[in-house]
Amino acid sequence: MTRENAHAQDTWARDRVAVITGGASGIGLAITEQLVALGARVAVWDIRTDRLEALQARFGDRVMVRQVDVSSDAEVRAAAASVAEAWGGIDHLVNNAGVIGRLMRLDDLDADELDRVLAVNLKSVFYATAAFVRHPRSAEGRSVVMLSSIAARTGGMVGNMVYAASKGAIATLTKSFAKELAPQARVNALAPGIIDTEIQQASLGDPAAAAALASAIPLERLGTPGEVAEAAVWLLSPASAYVNSTLLDVAGGR
Ligand SMILES: NC(=O)c1ccc[n+]([C@@H]2O[C@H](COP(=O)([O-])OP(=O)(O)OC[C@H]3O[C@@H](n4cnc5c(N)ncnc54)[C@H](O)[C@@H]3O)[C@@H](O)[C@H]2O)c1
Repeated sequence: MTRENAHAQDTWARDRVAVITGGASGIGLAITEQLVALGARVAVWDIRTDRLEALQARFGDRVMVRQVDVSSDAEVRAAAASVAEAWGGIDHLVNNAGVIGRLMRLDDLDADELDRVLAVNLKSVFYATAAFVRHPRSAEGRSVVMLSSIAARTGGMVGNMVYAASKGAIATLTKSFAKELAPQARVNALAPGIIDTEIQQASLGDPAAAAALASAIPLERLGTPGEVAEAAVWLLSPASAYVNSTLLDVAGGR
């Protein structure tokens, strides 16, 4: 990398505006931290008010936090309008909010839970990406990153089918959105493996189960939120300017 390129890498995010859904914890928080460190202004939409308040206290006017249930189109529309009013529009979007949902098998199918998980994980992606389209800011370099999962190709653990299906649909939508938004914006997705965050701790239950899973990963450990965030920031940045419609595994070789 030339000295000029290295400098461009350091400065690309200054004066850029990003929206991170579910950015108050885990992977979304790590992406928020890295973007703020690079000089971006970050709007964080999450349902956890305690964590949103902590973020605001930590980063001041570099962040704009708002309690938003991303499964509500009306709430997403209102939040996007407030970002556009305050900061002139949206340059980058990370569709990150997600839930595992209650584990269930087909003989135990709960239609309400099915609707809830699909609304949070999947419908939200339509709502937030439509908001991104409605509120352009910069003429160039706009980009979207979606959080799929390796569950999109494995089908997930038994009982995790709704989550896995939502992540498969996100991988598909990455292709659909990338076609529709080109050449004005790029759309890519990450497929994390097992990352040490609350969503995973809730799913695994105990540390022994996590250790057993780690032994099945070629790199022999769970990933960290920061490692996923590094990949997300690269996909958002001009360093990946010719990468579009891609699903990138961040899964330790699994
Ligand atoms: N952790 C993993 O192993 C892993 C693996 C693959 C994919 N992913 C995906 O990465 C993304 C982030 O996961 P994480 O591990 O950081 O989870 P996390 O539980 O730590 O964070 C998810 C965030 O989303 C927020 N959220 C949940 N429902 C919401 C709603 N209706 N509206 C707004 N915000 C909402 C939560 O409050 C939380 O802050 C998810 O989409 C997840 O499916 C995670």
